[in-house]
Amino acid sequence: MKVLHKLHEIYAPLDFARREGKSIGLVPTMGALHQGHYSLVDESVAQCDLTVATIFVNPSQFGPKEDLSRYPRPLDQDLAGLAKAGTDYVFVPESTDIYPNGHSTWVEPPAVANPLEGEFRPGHYRGVATIVLKLFNLIPATVAYFGMKDYQQLLVIRRMVEDLNIPIRIQPCATIRETDGLAMSSRNRYLSPEDREKAKCLSRALQHVEELTNSGEGKIDFLESEMHRILEQAGATHVDYARIVDAETLESLSRFTTPSVALIAARIGNTRLIDNRVFWVMQ
Ligand code: PAJ
Repeated sequence: MKVLHKLHEIYAPLDFARREGKSIGLVPTMGALHQGHYSLVDESVAQCDLTVATIFVNPSQFGPKEDLSRYPRPLDQDLAGLAKAGTDYVFVPESTDIYPNGHSTWVEPPAVANPLEGEFRPGHYRGVATIVLKLFNLIPATVAYFGMKDYQQLLVIRRMVEDLNIPIRIQPCATIRETDGLAMSSRNRYLSPEDREKAKCLSRALQHVEELTNSGEGKIDFLESEMHRILEQAGATHVDYARIVDAETLESLSRFTTPSVALIAARIGNTRLIDNRVFWVMQ
């Protein structure tokens, strides 16, 4: 496995491989890797001739009051895990190379970035769209793997790729969960044992919606209030949103229908967690 840090090092060997007809899978990450990330790497290794992972804690997608400085950075452990998973290249750029003095060009994200996370994390998807486009430009990949865990991010990137005619395929990957249902996240390590127990309420609330809709409940207001009830009863510190919306546009629905998606963002202690459940299989 080759670990590359400089922007000019990564393009040429991969461009050469592309010209030889090899497929290249890209797995962008911010490190602190867990089984969710490795499931993306596994899919790429299974499907592509070469797998490139990137590790970059992208400052521009963090708000001023967010956890950029304390975001975990266990680089050696991540590199060992990626090597074991069969990764061919890991790209670990420097922030000063990605955002040099004078950097002032940004991607204006698509409309699907506006609701939900867009309301609670202004500027977040501008930062995500910009770094992901940079990675697509630096790394001539054929396919890029993104987790359904960050459902709105996946929609933003899909739309950007379509709108800007970027020649890459976006492959969605299923959310990987702990045995008790908690979606794996680099931020789970912030949870105290007590909060870790409470954190199960996100997946439980989503499961409850699934059960209610399976038994014919269609009132969105009721379904959303049930999610709030479960989250608040479990002791969530704050619920940013618990919504059921159109699975493609993220617009409001008048009644439950498919394709739709239930999305939650809630604070457990000081840790902000997100989770979702799609009522439809994405292609
Ligand atoms: P990060 O949070 O490190 O996640 C990297 C990728 O792993 C994303 O595609 C995310 O959806 C996926 N992922 C995280 N947890 C997962 C889980 N439990 N199951 C399946 N996939 C999971 O998302 C980012 O980084 C950044 O915004 C990035 C796209 C790298 C741009 O900076």
